[in-house]
Amino acid sequence: MDYKFLGLVNDLELVKKIDDQMQSEQIRTNWYTSIGEFWQSVERESQAILIITETSFYNVYDFCKELSLSFPKHQIILLVEESEYDVKRALKSGANDILLFNKAESEIVRTIHEIKRDQSLKEKKGTDTVDSDVPNKHARYISVSSTKGGIGKSTLSVNLASEYAKNGSRVALIDLDLQFGDVALILDVKPKRTIYDWVKEGYGRSIGVERFMLEHSSGVKVLPSPVRPEFAEVINEEHIKEVLDELKTSFDIVIIDTPPGLPETTLTALEASDQVVVLTYMDLPTLKNTKLFLETLESLELKERIKIVLNKVSKVKGIKPDSVEKILGMSVNARLPEQNKVVLPSLNMGIPYVVSHPKSMVSKSVKKLADLLIPRGIVRNKSPKSFLVNIVPKGRRRVS
Ligand SMILES: Nc1ncnc2c1ncn2[C@@H]1O[C@H](COP(=O)(O)OP(=O)(O)OP(=O)(O)O)[C@@H](O)[C@H]1O
Ligand SMILES: [Mg+2]
Repeated sequence: MDYKFLGLVNDLELVKKIDDQMQSEQIRTNWYTSIGEFWQSVERESQAILIITETSFYNVYDFCKELSLSFPKHQIILLVEESEYDVKRALKSGANDILLFNKAESEIVRTIHEIKRDQSLKEKKGTDTVDSDVPNKHARYISVSSTKGGIGKSTLSVNLASEYAKNGSRVALIDLDLQFGDVALILDVKPKRTIYDWVKEGYGRSIGVERFMLEHSSGVKVLPSPVRPEFAEVINEEHIKEVLDELKTSFDIVIIDTPPGLPETTLTALEASDQVVVLTYMDLPTLKNTKLFLETLESLELKERIKIVLNKVSKVKGIKPDSVEKILGMSVNARLPEQNKVVLPSLNMGIPYVVSHPKSMVSKSVKKLADLLIPRGIVRNKSPKSFLVNIVPKGRRRVS
C-alpha cells in the first residue's frame, strides 16, 4: 500500500530539515500551514502518514486525538517541543509515534519505516486470520515485575505458567531478563536457541519466533533469554513488540518474566500486558521502592492492570501484612507464603512446585492467583480452541 505524506506545521525551518532527510528516501510530503486545508486533504486519502506539530491555533495532543478518532486508518507522527512533552497526554493522543523537535529530522525516516513495517505486518496478520479456524482469538499477557532482584519473579512466572498449562491452556513463557535470565535453569532445560538467535536469524526474515522456543515437559513453551549477558544489547523494544505480537494467535496465555526495574524492553512488555503482577516483599526498603514503582506505572496509565502480590510471607518477618497496604496505598491482591521446604527442592529438581508439590500452601496460593489473573472458563478451558476474544492495549508510544 502506497502512503501519502501530509504534514501540518508552522515552522518552515523544520520542514526544510525534514524534507532534506526524506528526499534521500524519495518521500515527498505535502506541507500545510492551514488546518482547514490540511483536514480536507486528510479526508481525501484512504491511508496516509500524517506529521503534525504544535501551532498557536490548537493544542497538538487534542488535535491528534481528534485526527486519530476521525481517521483511524491514517498513521500519525507527533512532533513536540521537549518542554511541551506531556507523557500522559501523549499516551492518550492516539499518535503512532512521538518525536521531540530536536531529534525530529534525524529520527523521522526511521520512524516512517517502522510505521510502514508495523502496518504491513498488521495487514499480513489480518489476512492470516481470515484463513484461521478461530478468527480473532487472542492470547492473554501477564507480566511479572518487581523493583529489585531475588523477590521471586522467575519462580512465580514458571509456576504460574505450569499451573495454566496443567489446565490445558497453551502457554508461552518469555524470559525477558535478557542479561541474567534463569527461567531455563529453573526448569532444568538447556536451550539450544534463545531470543538472541531469533533476533539474529529470524527477525525481519519472516522466521517465526516459535521455532526458537523449547517445550518443557509441563507443556509450557519457553523463549529463553540469551546465554551471555552481552548478547542482551542487541535486543530492543521493537523485537519485543514483534515477539509478543507473533505469539498472540498461537497461545492462550503468555507469561513474561522480567528483570528487576523498568528497562525499555520491560516497559514494552508491561504495556502490552493485560495484567501486570508487581511482586513485593515485607521489608521497608523494598516496600518504599515498590511504592515508587507503582507511581511510575500509574503515570504510564498502567494502574488498572496492576496486581500486587506479596511474596515470602512469614510470621517472623518484621512488618505485618496489613501495614503493607498502608505503605503502598493500594490493596494487596495475593499473598504467597515463604515455603523453603517446597520451593527450594522444586528448584533443585527443576520441577515447578505446582507440579511436584501441588497440595502445598504455596502451590495453592499460586493456583488462587492464577484464577484471579484469568478466571476459569475464560481462556482456561480444556479445549484450547474456545476462548474469549481479548483486546491487548496498544503499545506505549516511543519517545525519542
Ligand atoms: N514463596 C517462596 N518461598 C521460599 N523461597 C522462595 C519463594 N519464592 C521465591 N523463593 C526463592 O527466592 C529466590 C529468588 O527467587 P527468583 O530467582 O524467582 O527471584 P527473581 O525475582 O526472579 O530474582 P532476579 O530478579 O534476580 O531474577 C530463589 O532462591 C527462590 O527459590
Ligand atoms: Mg529472575
